[in-house]
Amino acid sequence: MTVVYHEEDGNIDVLQGETIGIIGYGNLGRPVALNLRDSGVTVKIGLKADESPAIVEADGFPFGDIEQVARDSNILFILIPNEVMPQAYIDKISPHLKRDTTLIFASAYNVAFGYIEPPSFVDVGLIAPRTIGAAVRERYLSGDGFYSFVAAGQDASGNIWDTILALAKGIGSLNAGAVEITMEQEAELDLFIQQAILPTFHHVMTTAATLLLGKGYPPEAAIMDLYISGEFNDYLERAATSGLLHALRLSTLTGQFGIFSRLERFNELKLERLMEITLDEIRDGQFSKEWAKEYADGYPRLRKLLKNQEGMDLWELEQQTIDLLKGF
Ligand SMILES: NC(=O)c1ccc[n+]([C@@H]2O[C@H](COP(=O)([O-])OP(=O)(O)OC[C@H]3O[C@@H](n4cnc5c(N)ncnc54)[C@H](OP(=O)(O)O)[C@@H]3O)[C@@H](O)[C@H]2O)c1
Repeated sequence: MTVVYHEEDGNIDVLQGETIGIIGYGNLGRPVALNLRDSGVTVKIGLKADESPAIVEADGFPFGDIEQVARDSNILFILIPNEVMPQAYIDKISPHLKRDTTLIFASAYNVAFGYIEPPSFVDVGLIAPRTIGAAVRERYLSGDGFYSFVAAGQDASGNIWDTILALAKGIGSLNAGAVEITMEQEAELDLFIQQAILPTFHHVMTTAATLLLGKGYPPEAAIMDLYISGEFNDYLERAATSGLLHALRLSTLTGQFGIFSRLERFNELKLERLMEITLDEIRDGQFSKEWAKEYADGYPRLRKLLKNQEGMDLWELEQQTIDLLKGF
């Protein structure tokens, strides 16, 4: 049975006397640092040499270069982009690891796919919020909290869970709930949602828009009805609290008959097979190798793929729709 941790499972007192080294002050680093401080935890920010400390200073945090923070802190929360992390880890963090160091990641990617191999004498943990950095701060302040995955990659000290749960509570995740999985499962699930669900959704929307425009529907009306109205957000919100089927059953009877009578038409076996291939490529490491090469080459394929997408006529119509609805 999957374990879900809540407020009562975390004890922030175990962090007393510690200074948490936050490596990276970006989308997630800043909310994590602010939330920990507001929870009474002492933090110090590790910045790369050429990084401006202006925001860190304005926020009132002590800071230093990454090496210095790695040397001085027993607990390091590594919050820099996954693609640059292996090199930064080798150059600036690994030389300073001690027997009582704990490394905490917000994405298991590098550990799970073998790009970072911490020595066996350190603790390795994961606290991976299932939301964007801005929401990590907003939901801390509102008291709602946010879901996250937590994992213990390595428990050299025997105390890794105390640290993970104290930090998860400090950043505000236990208010909602932290779900325990393995490092590998987190990395694979994260990539699967990105690679199987978001492209499917994108494809469904662009295919529908292209079809409707081709059939002569006013672009603004069609695009607004497809996703700009926010009806989808409402549906997903209800699905998140009451379940997918319940959310569909909030439709009118006409709507429900339409949904369930046409559902089977879209039950394509091919979709399941494509998702399975996508998952297999993630799990056997093929995707991570492809991405490592793409990064090393300077993103040639990503640039091309983005250029193709940006060339679609639909985006101009989409912008017109947004402007029209906002009254510009
Ligand atoms: N963003 C999210 O919503 C989110 C959610 C869940 C998990 N995560 C995970 O959190 C981690 C951080 O993601 P993020 O989105 O916060 O990243 P980000 O916003 O891109 O953060 C970048 C931070 O890392 C610094 N940095 C960039 N290149 C560096 C290098 N070569 N060496 C050292 N520092 C470097 C940046 O400095 P400059 O600004 O000077 O480049 C900045 O301080 C990742 O593991 C990610 O998967 C993120």
